[in-house]
Order: sequence, then C-alpha cells, then structure tokens
Amino acid sequence: MKLWGGRFESGPSEVFERFSNSLAFDRRLLDADVRGSQAFARSLARAGVLTGEECERIVAAFDAIAADAKNPAYFGGADDEDVHTFVIRKLKERVGGLADKIHTGRSRNEQVSLDTRLWLRDECDRARELLAGLMRALLDLAAKYPNAIIPGYTHLRRAQPVLWPHYLLAYFEMFARDHERFGDARRRTDVMPLGSGALAGSGFPHDREAIARDLGFAAITRNSMDVSADRDFALDYLYAASTAMLHLSRLAEDWILYSSEEFGWMELGDGVTSGSSLMPQKKNPDSLELIRGKSGRVAGALTSLMFTIKGLPMTYNRDMQEDKRPLFEAADEVNGSLEMARVVAESVVLRESVPAAAADESWVIATDLAEALARNGTAFHQAHQLAGKLVLESVRSGKKPGDWNAESLAAFAPEFTPDMARYLDPREGMKTREIAGGTGPRAVATALEEARARLAKLT
Ligand code: ARG
Repeated sequence: MKLWGGRFESGPSEVFERFSNSLAFDRRLLDADVRGSQAFARSLARAGVLTGEECERIVAAFDAIAADAKNPAYFGGADDEDVHTFVIRKLKERVGGLADKIHTGRSRNEQVSLDTRLWLRDECDRARELLAGLMRALLDLAAKYPNAIIPGYTHLRRAQPVLWPHYLLAYFEMFARDHERFGDARRRTDVMPLGSGALAGSGFPHDREAIARDLGFAAITRNSMDVSADRDFALDYLYAASTAMLHLSRLAEDWILYSSEEFGWMELGDGVTSGSSLMPQKKNPDSLELIRGKSGRVAGALTSLMFTIKGLPMTYNRDMQEDKRPLFEAADEVNGSLEMARVVAESVVLRESVPAAAADESWVIATDLAEALARNGTAFHQAHQLAGKLVLESVRSGKKPGDWNAESLAAFAPEFTPDMARYLDPREGMKTREIAGGTGPRAVATALEEARARLAKLT
C-alpha cells in the first residue's frame, strides 16, 4: 500500500523501493506512531471530521495494532515504505474504508516529527535515570574509602595528592552536567508539532493545544515550516549522548590504567572482565574498553546527523529519514554504556595502600612545601625555586619525602621552619585545601553530603 500514487502512471522500481524503505528500522517508532495517531483521531473528532463513534473505532483498532506489534512476527514480510504507512495499512485491515479518513490534512512530515519526539522524550528520561544510577554508584564507591589518598595527575604525571572521594566527585560533576543536558534536550523535544501539515499548517481546525494536552506535551510548535525542517531536538539529544560518552570514555580509560599491573590500585570484579583464550593469567577490562570504543560511535552519530542536515533547503527533504539510525544507535549505546559503567563501579575494589604509597613515594607534596614557605613570607617564585631544588637534590640522592625531617630541611635551607616538616606527609597539605571545591577533608565531606542531596532531588 502507498499513501500516494494517484499522480503516478507506474509504480516505483524494485531498486528504489528497496533503497528508500525505512520500515526495517523505523518500526521502532510504532508505539509512538500509534499514540500520536490516536490523539490525531481525537482531534479530528473535535474538529468534526470524524464522528465520536468513528473515532472510538479507530482508537480501539490502534490499541489492537500496538498489542499485535509486540510480536516481531507482526512485521514479517511487510514491505511498506515506512512505519507510518505500515500502521495505516494495518488500520485499514481492521476498520476498512474508515481508515482513509485518519490522514485528513496530516502529513508524514509532521507525523515523523511527532513520533520521534514522543520516542525521544522517553529516551531522555531513560538516560537521566541511568545517569542517576551511575552517580549513586560513584558516591557509594567514594563512601567505601572515605579517607583513601591517591596522587592526582596532570600530563599523566603525579601532581598533587587528593582524596579518592574527591576524584570520584569530579566524575559526579560531569555526569550531573550530562543529566542537565539530557533535561535540556527533553525540554526542546517536548513541543507538539501536529497541525503543521506538510509545511504550511493544517487546513482543518485542530485545537493544537488540546492535542498537546492529550499527549502530555509542554507546548506547541510555533511555525509549520520549522516543524518540517527541524531536527534540532535530535541533535540536542545526540550532543548530550556524545558528551556523556566522552565522560564515560575518560572514566573507562582511568580505570583501565588504575587496574593495570603497572598501577595496581584497583581490582575490577570478575563479572565485568574477560580472560584470554590463550594466556591463562589474563583478566582483561573488556567492559571498560567497550565503553571507550562505543563512545566513538555515538560521536559519529552526532556528526552523521549534522552532516545530513547541513545544506538542506527548506523544509522537509527525504534526507531527513537518515536521522533515525544514528539516533537509535546512539540511544542503544549510551544506555548500554551507562548501565555497564554502573555495574563496573559497583564491582571496584580499591587497594588503598597502593595509591597511598604512590603519593608518599613521589614528590606530590612539593607544592605543599612551596606554599608553606610562601605563607611564611617567602615570595612564591622563590619558594617554588627552593622546593624545586629540594626535589632535584632528592632525585639525585634517591631520597623520598619521608627521608627528610625538620632538621635536615632546615639544614638544606633556613627558610624551612620546623613546623613545615609536617607537609612531608601528603595528608597534611590536603588540610590546607579546605576551600570550597578543594580536596581538604572537610570540604570533601561536605561535597559528598551535598552530592547525595543533589542526587536525591534528581531521582
Ligand atoms: N519515512 C519518512 C521519514 O522518516 C517519513 C516522512 C516522509 N515524508 C515524505 N515527504 N516523503 O522522514
């Protein structure tokens, strides 16, 4: 069945049909298409195009179609152009000629916008739920080791000591922003396009606000041409998904490193790692590697849709059908990765002594010493030089911070007063960083509490 054809003398070539058919993937929108079509039928009834009884028959038939479609076999052998055509054919099978009225003044251009919005609105909620789950797992992992110390890195070189919860809270912030971004995407998706027609606005007196209420939309779109041309809401979602995947990918990269023999800080659960078919000793972080790998595909989906939209003349062009596969793929990958990351986080065991020793053995306290000198009146540049010289001397003679004490420091340079020796211990320097957002133990405890409260409000 075709929703057009009157103007044609012969049908489409088999090659073109195969080439342009989207049912194989846009059938995923069937539920949305049915819900949207039911609301449209009710609107047609309000506009006097359908009688109340006709509308009821159509709505009931749609319910039956949605129920039947739960069985994948329902689509077996269907060669309809797209999901919208498929659904109307099924309606026709159930209500006969009455089905010919359902598309009164409606265009698939607005219909596909509506369906995608209905589907995507739920996906935004789903991503936000999964993000909240991961954020909770990070807070739980922080709470398991509230006092653990790790070296923080810049350039992947040991930089300054930080608390393990402080490190995890950095990711909490990233995911909190992702949560907001999915919320923004949802807000722009949550606008009802029906009544726009193909591009010029419907010729029938729909109460568009009533359709919006019926489908739970927050607002109606303001321009019919914009409706046919617009996929910004999909791009917003894809950007939110891509950014979340970047964050997941960086977390994955960290934990792949931290769980390596070289770092040896953490153990990933058996349940999220794989062995080797040849090397019996291997325990590989495949779950994290796959998250890192999938992040590229989601960024690809964003790029793909941007390039599809770029240069399209107003308004609808069939190119726009190519929005679906990137959207569906991105949704599957971001949802899967968020869930996987949560399960990995739940499995992590931190070997506290290893990063603590890494912090003790390296010169991550050099900044603390320089700042102590500066607080005591040495200009910071001179203080930096002095601490740098101390590190150089120590590197030459193979000394660690713990090999120094108040006397030997004072002997090295008189600017080092006895009380400064305590900064040889990384825990002491951290106490000077009680500034909001810093790694001071009290600041971190407060940040953790606040994070719990923020999370509770999200869910
Ligand atoms: N399958 C089409 C899509 O996904 C639906 C809209 C078709 N509109 C049209 N004018 N051919 O974009």
